[in-house]
Amino acid sequence: ESVPLEMHKVRIVQKLNLPPVERRLEAITEAGNNTFLLRNADVFMDMLTDSGVNAMSDQQQAAMMIADDSYAGSATYTRLEAKLQDIFGMDYFLPAHQGRACENILGQVLVTPGSVVPMNYHFTTTKAHITLNGGIVEELVSDAGLEVVSVHPFKGNMDVAKLQAVIGKHGADKIAFVRMEAGTNLIGGQPFSLENLADIRKVCDQHRLLLVLDASLLADNLHFIKNREESCKALSIREITRKMADLCDLIYFSARKLGCARGGGMCMRSEELYRRMRGLIPLYEGFLTYGGMSVREMEALTVGLEETMDEEVINQGPQFIGYMVDELQKRDIPVITPAGGLGCHINAMKFVDHIPQAQYPAGALASALYIAGGIRGMERGTLSEQREPDGSEIFANMELVRLALPRRVFTLSQVKYAVDRLEWLYANRRLIGGLVFTEEPEILRFFYGRLAPV
Ligand code: F0G
Repeated sequence: ESVPLEMHKVRIVQKLNLPPVERRLEAITEAGNNTFLLRNADVFMDMLTDSGVNAMSDQQQAAMMIADDSYAGSATYTRLEAKLQDIFGMDYFLPAHQGRACENILGQVLVTPGSVVPMNYHFTTTKAHITLNGGIVEELVSDAGLEVVSVHPFKGNMDVAKLQAVIGKHGADKIAFVRMEAGTNLIGGQPFSLENLADIRKVCDQHRLLLVLDASLLADNLHFIKNREESCKALSIREITRKMADLCDLIYFSARKLGCARGGGMCMRSEELYRRMRGLIPLYEGFLTYGGMSVREMEALTVGLEETMDEEVINQGPQFIGYMVDELQKRDIPVITPAGGLGCHINAMKFVDHIPQAQYPAGALASALYIAGGIRGMERGTLSEQREPDGSEIFANMELVRLALPRRVFTLSQVKYAVDRLEWLYANRRLIGGLVFTEEPEILRFFYGRLAPV
């Protein structure tokens, strides 16, 4: 049996609480059956996300103590900028308070009404910012990316022919930029290959298009390239990172994921682009030497970025996720395969195949798993989509419950507990019914909408 091995030891812990099932039922009702609205005091395993909740290292904590507090010109900022230049080899950096803040600025500067952004797959906040600026998202993930059960090692690849077709259809001058998302979030944390990125670069060169990388989930993607891509086996993580960066014009990231810290930012090559975007940083984020991040966050990020270059650090997430996916498969519980990054993704379309998509099967399953085990997952399906302008639902390609594994947070016995609860719930799945909105916000409704049993 292959069991993941923790390459770290626990030195600080937080006491957990497992409320009785009666309280869990009450709590999820109070939360409008939306796991985002649960209180932590009612949650045993918080598998909602890996955003801003990965465990920091002792080195990161230590660096936070020497942070240089100042509004402008802080030495902490200089260290962060130098680390990013060292890792990505790009001259210009703009800091931001988190990933979606970068998307806001990218959207405002590069997207105009009617312009098109081809991407391997959208992320919720990315699409919201592009459409808010009048742009259109074209999703060009390879066909394998949408197969729930697969052995394809790089389901996050963009289909090169689809990209060429989209450029042909709209014309290159309509394309705002091409976006590749590392560790493609909404289809199960699936990576793209270095070879695919190089192919996309070639197409961008042919049409003089900007290639933008969303590197929020870069760590997982790097691990998979090193372990699954034959031509990269002999390369170090640092070398692979530089090869990826060399293919891109701009790299932005959520540092709540990348670097196990908080904040975000954008690295780029072009001084012209940097100047066009720079003015929006003091307007929305903060002065150019912090961009909404605290100096402590920036110190932690600088160390976290360096630690991301260590395979023994970044393999922890994928190994734990791989273990959990294997255990679930042994019990015939439908999951996305191959195991990706970020977390374990339950296929709700199959788990609760008696619930129609209009009744949010993944939302219903997330709610039920909380009742069954005090485990908080996240709906990643139709609920996470936005309605069409005419009010009709967009049914998601996949109905998933994402059980994130924040890095270095859970022990193997806790993962086994989650598997046990899922096994029980799968055996009793007919108990689960669909949901209907009682309160539906217009934008990013999944965050704070409320629902009730149908
Ligand atoms: N891009 C990707 C691929 C992401 O996964 C996220 C956030 C963002 C951009 C936005 O970054 O949260 O710092 O503003 N993903 C989180 C999640 C929210 O739970 O998957 P942010």
